[in-house]
Amino acid sequence: MKSFYISTAISYANAAPHIGHAYEAIGADVMARFKRLDGYDVYFVTGTDEHGQKVEKSAQLAGKKPQQFVDEVAALFEGMCRSMNVSYDQFIRTTAESHKKSCQAIWKKMEEKGDIYLNKYAGWYSTRDEAFYTEADLTTLPNGKKISTETKTEVEWMEEESYFFRLSAYTDKLLALYEQQPDFVQPGFRKNEVVSFVKQGLRDLSVSRTTFDWGVPVPGALKHIMYVWVDALTNYITALGYPDTNAEKFKKYWPCDVHLIGKDIIRFHAIYWPAFLMSAGIPVQKRVFGHGFLLTEGEKMSKSLGNVISPENLIVKYGVDQSRYALMREATFGQDGDISYTLMTTRINAELANNLGNLVQRTLSMIAKNCDAKVPTPGILEDVDKALLQKAGQAMLVAVRAEFEKMQFSKAIEEFISVSHAANLYIDEQAPWTLKKTDPARMATVLYVLAEVIRNLGLIIQPFTPVAAQKILDQVAVAANERDFGFIGEAHALKAGMPLPAPSGVFPRIIEDTANSSGSAAAKTA
Ligand code: MSP
Repeated sequence: MKSFYISTAISYANAAPHIGHAYEAIGADVMARFKRLDGYDVYFVTGTDEHGQKVEKSAQLAGKKPQQFVDEVAALFEGMCRSMNVSYDQFIRTTAESHKKSCQAIWKKMEEKGDIYLNKYAGWYSTRDEAFYTEADLTTLPNGKKISTETKTEVEWMEEESYFFRLSAYTDKLLALYEQQPDFVQPGFRKNEVVSFVKQGLRDLSVSRTTFDWGVPVPGALKHIMYVWVDALTNYITALGYPDTNAEKFKKYWPCDVHLIGKDIIRFHAIYWPAFLMSAGIPVQKRVFGHGFLLTEGEKMSKSLGNVISPENLIVKYGVDQSRYALMREATFGQDGDISYTLMTTRINAELANNLGNLVQRTLSMIAKNCDAKVPTPGILEDVDKALLQKAGQAMLVAVRAEFEKMQFSKAIEEFISVSHAANLYIDEQAPWTLKKTDPARMATVLYVLAEVIRNLGLIIQPFTPVAAQKILDQVAVAANERDFGFIGEAHALKAGMPLPAPSGVFPRIIEDTANSSGSAAAKTA
């Protein structure tokens, strides 16, 4: 069986999860579920990044010991993943003992290679970004403070003894990597940014700190704490059993098929991480996909702007499946996406309730009333029937799969929603309610075709709306072991005469509470 390893970034355990974290976790989950259903042996890792000065400062502010603080925040992240039905195989935490060992092992390998040396760092550092900046990266504000031009976070002057990683020695090797693996960074425009950055030449990287101690000690130099990014990136191999490169998971899943991360941390994943791996003699990952940021009405979400859409509010307002669908549908994965309650409500109502939900509802209730609550027996299929079945079968799977290869989730949705739309047009044209009186045999054929289309749609929507998909598949009596993508298409069509359970609605319409459309109170569902 082909394997597929997917990871999200591990989130800083310095504050509760927000919608951006949910967006990334759901994106990875949709991909992981798709691949599992498409016959891959999938391993999906997410987790929390718990060391470093930023986390230590947040713990101090909260008046808690760092370990207690990160235990609490990690539980919030894991809870968010569970509540969004994110099917991770491992939730990794960087304060685990196994991870410390793994970091020290990769460090030693890089040291043995001659890539680590002791020197003094004097330069700018942003704790918010846990990143080093040069003068050219900064803007000086009227009050004299300096901020990163890109991320707008404040920097501090830092001067201390530090170990360095010889990143400069990897400039050419990295450029060769981007040539040999053209899909190494996606989307393509992000790759171009990375390549032009590396072409300017890379400076060695400070990889240890001595002014705080919340992190993994450097082996043999215990007053030095590893730079939190060396620690964080290593999670991707710790999760598979590193330093034991003979571990079953390591052998099966490394190199990783895709690190799914936000656009702000592409450099760390597309430059530092492959350089560390090359230095340590470990194969580099196959792909880094940088998704965009979620914005509301063109603005960054922030508490002070009062436009924060939280994962919990979404679930209360729409339900889990609908929230997942709306997030994956509204933004083009890879670009920044504008979301608002108005947009999401409109989308859920138009596509899930009125289009897909309505198709299921009217077909299955007609079958329940007019076909003895059994899969109807079709007569000879007409061209129009065959055309719809073809559209809903292998052709749909091939089109959706092609979009998944590019991680274009919204486009993948468009592919199956257009099938549902075509089925609604078919039902209107064929008018089975009229056929009931004029030609009951033809009515049975039409309802059979529709039930079969619903079976295929139920299968294909599983990655996005896993619970609703199971309800739909139950309602057309698809056996539990016949729900992977191998069963899409005519070869596994519904058998006439199979008894069907009583139908019930799957995607309710969202009725906006106009008095409170900000969504802070739950809207009623009908
Ligand atoms: N700890 C580092 C990642 C280390 S990976 C080895 C980090 N953590 S984070 O908590 O700041 O971000 C976690 C992920 O969430 C990142 O991929 C980041 O890009 C993503 N997002 C943070 N805010 C976001 C939005 N508003 N929208 C979409 N994704 C965003 O970076």
